[in-house]
Amino acid sequence: MQWIFALALGYALGSVPFGLIITRIAGAGDLRSIGSGNIGATNVLRTGRKGLAAATLLLDLLKGLAAVLIAAAVWPEWVWLAALGAFLGHCFPVWLRFRGGKGVATTAGIAFGLAWPVGLAYALTWIGLLLTVKISSVAGMTAAVVAPLVALVLGHQDAALVLAVIAAIVLFQHRENIARLRAGTEPRVGGSKKS
Ligand code: G3P
Repeated sequence: MQWIFALALGYALGSVPFGLIITRIAGAGDLRSIGSGNIGATNVLRTGRKGLAAATLLLDLLKGLAAVLIAAAVWPEWVWLAALGAFLGHCFPVWLRFRGGKGVATTAGIAFGLAWPVGLAYALTWIGLLLTVKISSVAGMTAAVVAPLVALVLGHQDAALVLAVIAAIVLFQHRENIARLRAGTEPRVGGSKKS
């Protein structure tokens, strides 16, 4: 039965749509009708409210980290399931009819919780590409793919497996971004708003 609790805890934490809640409370509108329509920090940034975007990034990261750390303390055997639950909760929240985010920030928290060096590699890849390429989706997708490989190299087999599943779903969630990248219409961070 413990596995159900771990999965439910992860899903419950992950499913809190912080970006949507924060922007609504701040009177910055409904994220789903702004920019890409995504509920993540990148799209919050398109409202022009940098502080709200930073808060969304931090809270989305922390919910992934919290799910892993709580499960590690209470149901250590099922940490991986809590991690997966948090990710799935963010991407497919029941409260939003299963139409949630793309999971990049939440996966950062999950990676830090599973094995901090993997989280560090994830963050460095993500931030490094954000600063150089300046395309959020490219940075996020690359970090997601790098994470399981780093976990494998560092000997964290269980983390590598769950992060590989997560990476596959991160890519799937970015299918519209991939189409825009192929068409050359994906906006850069700090660039003009897209429809
Ligand atoms: O973390 C989400 C990011 O990778 C893409 O966001 O709003 O540009 O689709 P967005």
